[in-house]
Amino acid sequence: MSPSRPNSGHVPVLLEETIAALAVQPGGRYIDCTLGGGGHALAILEHSSPGGQLLGIDADPGAIEVARDRLNAYRDSILLVNDNFANLQAICVKHDFFPVHGILLDLGLSSRQLNGDGRGFSFKHDAPLDMRFSPSQEITAADIVNTYSEAELAHLIKTYGEEGYNRRIARRIVSERPIKSTLHLARAIERVIGRRSKLHPATKTFQALRIAVNRELENLEAALKQAIELLGFEGRLVVISYHSLEDRIVKQFMHREAKGCICPPGTPVCVCGHKPRLKLIKRGVITPSPLEIQRNPRSRSAKLRVAEHVIAQDDCYGTADVLNFLAEVKARAWKRPALLKKLETVFLAA
Ligand SMILES: C[S@@+](CC[C@H](N)C(=O)[O-])C[C@H]1O[C@@H](n2cnc3c(N)ncnc32)[C@H](O)[C@@H]1O
Repeated sequence: MSPSRPNSGHVPVLLEETIAALAVQPGGRYIDCTLGGGGHALAILEHSSPGGQLLGIDADPGAIEVARDRLNAYRDSILLVNDNFANLQAICVKHDFFPVHGILLDLGLSSRQLNGDGRGFSFKHDAPLDMRFSPSQEITAADIVNTYSEAELAHLIKTYGEEGYNRRIARRIVSERPIKSTLHLARAIERVIGRRSKLHPATKTFQALRIAVNRELENLEAALKQAIELLGFEGRLVVISYHSLEDRIVKQFMHREAKGCICPPGTPVCVCGHKPRLKLIKRGVITPSPLEIQRNPRSRSAKLRVAEHVIAQDDCYGTADVLNFLAEVKARAWKRPALLKKLETVFLAA
């Protein structure tokens, strides 16, 4: 077992696979957009030592504190920011932290959040219906549950929870209002649809509320678009998702960016001018082994996707290759401006 694995708290999912997918190298610069308990971050720092640097982001101020403690041995190599990863580019510009060798998003909740930190993410513990990652967000789950119309609730539970009993649940919620606590909501749902499988009947509704409260899908789309801009030469983008709505967004994004022309089928001549900006390192997903699932049941729904930043072939990177300093470009994750400067120096010296 890797020394990065903690004995308690949040167990990082697909840890070895993540480090391999990020192609972590000594001296590299990495961004962990979902710091959580700092498990992946610690492994990245270990593998990028000596000289590695890590920018860690989390919307939850509690996660920043936990991770700061855990990453203390690397305190001179880390920068931790309490913010939403939807602001990724602004954060990197503010701290002059780009281009980078790799960006990780390990979506969803940490064990600390799930195991009842009083914010109502789980129906296993009684807590106020909050579900915000950050206390600075305005809308709580209680606001949604107690103010949305029955039709709006049914739509939300269907869209974000993929719950077939959405209408019955929405009707019951409206008739039970006000609902202030997790157990009140979970019991109301259980009374209306009963126990049909091993899955608790409130699971999908809780997922739907959490996604809505935190605008999870919108934020993911925003972060993916910005991540590409921050990756340096052959930089890696790695995303671990835990439900099909997230995975669909990641898959569609990576596949679209890996394509050349994206004109509608049947368009006689390409008018989009789209160039591939990513290369899929693996076409499908990487999933946990049966052993990992047995050791950490929370990993069972995890899907890891990985892609690499590519530069258009007619670009200055071709010249760097010819001049034999592509290795240097890669080690420093140089983007065009830095590379052009280097090329200028080489040509002036010639
Ligand atoms: C699954 S945990 C990450 C665990 C971490 N990889 C580890 O090894 O400990 C996900 C974390 O992402 C954070 N998070 C979720 N959405 C976020 C967002 N939009 N912006 C910033 N952080 C977010 C959550 O607060 C949570 O701490």
